[in-house]
Amino acid sequence: MTEEERFRHVMGHFATGVAVVTGLSGDGEALGFTANAVASVSLNPRLVLVCVDHDSASLPSLQRRGAFALSFLGAAQEEVARRFAGGTREDRFTGVATRVEETGAPVLNQALAWLDCRIWKEVEAGDHVLLIGQVVRCGGGQDDEPLVFYRGAYGTVRP
Ligand SMILES: Cc1cc2nc3c(=O)[nH]c(=O)nc-3n(C[C@H](O)[C@H](O)[C@H](O)COP(=O)(O)O)c2cc1C
Repeated sequence: MTEEERFRHVMGHFATGVAVVTGLSGDGEALGFTANAVASVSLNPRLVLVCVDHDSASLPSLQRRGAFALSFLGAAQEEVARRFAGGTREDRFTGVATRVEETGAPVLNQALAWLDCRIWKEVEAGDHVLLIGQVVRCGGGQDDEPLVFYRGAYGTVRP
């Protein structure tokens, strides 16, 4: 096992939720991708972060628009998580109902909970960029079970 493989293997043991990060392209089209490198950062001001790969096709648009939304997925949305991790931009949103809250970034209607953010700071971190977002609006709180990612597989937990 290379050191990189060991790192991936070890980090795979940190169970996370699964989010879809969304925004708008330069021509106003919805874009989004699946992400689990998401964390709460600060309460005052309210900040969250998502770590975005430099290879992400969405990254330049998110940076240009200065905004993104996070939609937390429920256990029933594994197919959505898979779709937003591959395929084309148009395919990803097919049959996925969204709405706009404040920044223009689409929020998934079926999300367990969501945050609409303006980019507060960007931090270069190796092959990723940390997008730290200031929360301008958030909501949700559906009672459904969450989608969980653990050791490279999807599952759920019952609290
Ligand atoms: C469970 C899971 C979690 C992921 N987490 C992240 C993440 O936190 N940051 C990231 O940049 N990519 C993450 N990815 C990969 C992106 O979803 C994938 O590369 C996507 O195709 C990027 O889309 P884009 O190139 O259209 O921006 C994750 C994929 C999966 C399946």
